Amino acid sequence: MPSLSQQQMLEIFSGLVAVGSCLDDSESLKTYGKDWTTAWEPCPALILLPASTEEVQAIVGAANEHGVALVPSGGRTGLSGGAVAAKSEVIVALDRMNQLGEFDPVDRTVVCQAGVITGQLQAFAQDQGLVYPVDFASADSSQLGGNISTNAGGVKVIRYGTTRQWVAGLKVVTGKGDILDLNKGLVKNATGYDLRHLFIGAEGTLGFVVEATMQLTSTPKASSVLVLGVPDFLAMTNLLDAFRKAFDLMAFEFFSDRALNYVLARGGTRPFETVTPLYALLEIEHVSEKTLEEILEVFERVKLQGWVEEGVMSQSQEQAHALWQLREGISESIASKMPYKNDLSVRVSKLPAFIEELDEVVRRSYPDMETIWYGHLGDGNLHLNILKPEDQSQEHFFQTCNEVNRHVFEIVEKYGGSVSAEHGVGLLKKPHLNYTRSATEIEYMKSLKAVFDPNGIMNPGKLV
Ligand code: MLT
Ligand code: ZN
Repeated sequence: MPSLSQQQMLEIFSGLVAVGSCLDDSESLKTYGKDWTTAWEPCPALILLPASTEEVQAIVGAANEHGVALVPSGGRTGLSGGAVAAKSEVIVALDRMNQLGEFDPVDRTVVCQAGVITGQLQAFAQDQGLVYPVDFASADSSQLGGNISTNAGGVKVIRYGTTRQWVAGLKVVTGKGDILDLNKGLVKNATGYDLRHLFIGAEGTLGFVVEATMQLTSTPKASSVLVLGVPDFLAMTNLLDAFRKAFDLMAFEFFSDRALNYVLARGGTRPFETVTPLYALLEIEHVSEKTLEEILEVFERVKLQGWVEEGVMSQSQEQAHALWQLREGISESIASKMPYKNDLSVRVSKLPAFIEELDEVVRRSYPDMETIWYGHLGDGNLHLNILKPEDQSQEHFFQTCNEVNRHVFEIVEKYGGSVSAEHGVGLLKKPHLNYTRSATEIEYMKSLKAVFDPNGIMNPGKLV
């Protein structure tokens, strides 16, 4: 891409958005230039805050004309560098497009601009006696456009699926500058390629998500949260199997005692006195009056098997919330350790064998580093975080992790798994995409990008 001076950039773009919506002060450039990753120094040229689809379209038009790279920016809670602008790109932040639009109580859909915060949509759904069920720790700052662009998952995927399942319609501005209104909220629509699904998870490489018609659903009945102390991974996968057979689970999460200790260092209390290497967190809906009894029956059974050492079940919403905090607080509690983050997945049926091999390799490959396990076991998604030793530079640490992690990715490939279950590819996982996608598949992905973004202005360098 040709390099333009800051002055030229300002001349091209500042008039396309309202006064005060083009930022180039150093504080804003630093803030908007990165997501939650720390490996890249932000270095964007400008930040634009459009207020309408037409303004986004005008920005795309100008970027094509002048060969300027654009980086779409939402809540920037990503963990793979998908929203990083380190090469003088123009950031297009959707913060000002944050309105909830028409709600249809019959279809149970609501139109959302891309900058709507996840928590804002959840609260709106609640006010209508409904629920937007995709949930994760960053719900209070992540934006819908970003969730859609990464097909965000979270803690209830076992029951509700990922963001993809909840996008009934999608309005996008392609990298070519066309506005497409995709699927229009239809439940059934057998009219050929569903382009909506191409934009979901595309990480802004095909164009901008500007608006989405989101599906809401019925509020579940009351539920109980359980935290169980588990001796090892084999017991953990046995537990998953036992509880999945007995209940339609809302969540089945896990974390290690090391992860728990990082959370407790910032507050909260242990779920029970017994310390076990691993803990499972389950949420179970009370589908009938007997559910509580049935939970206790299964608990007794798995305890007898030796798969659980001790357990606790929430007796109130406050307790349920406090137990969830032990799991949801992990990511933030280790953030200062600059972790190398793995976000692996395999089919649930393959978890026992996969984890056994993975655990062995991790012990061998990272003998001197602190490793932290947690994740969404119920949908086959494991977060393996390697913490940076204090005396190592970040560059050296990342290089070492990238090299030794090759063995981890080889196991992922062997089991037909994914090197990025829910965090996206961005800059971080791009070098490892080949472990999950074949060379031919990547070529098709590149060809698709060229159709929607022929000049390569959309989030270049990310994903493919
Ligand atoms: C989580 O499951 O807590 C999130 O994916 C964030 C993380 O992996 O750190
Ligand atoms: Zn996660």
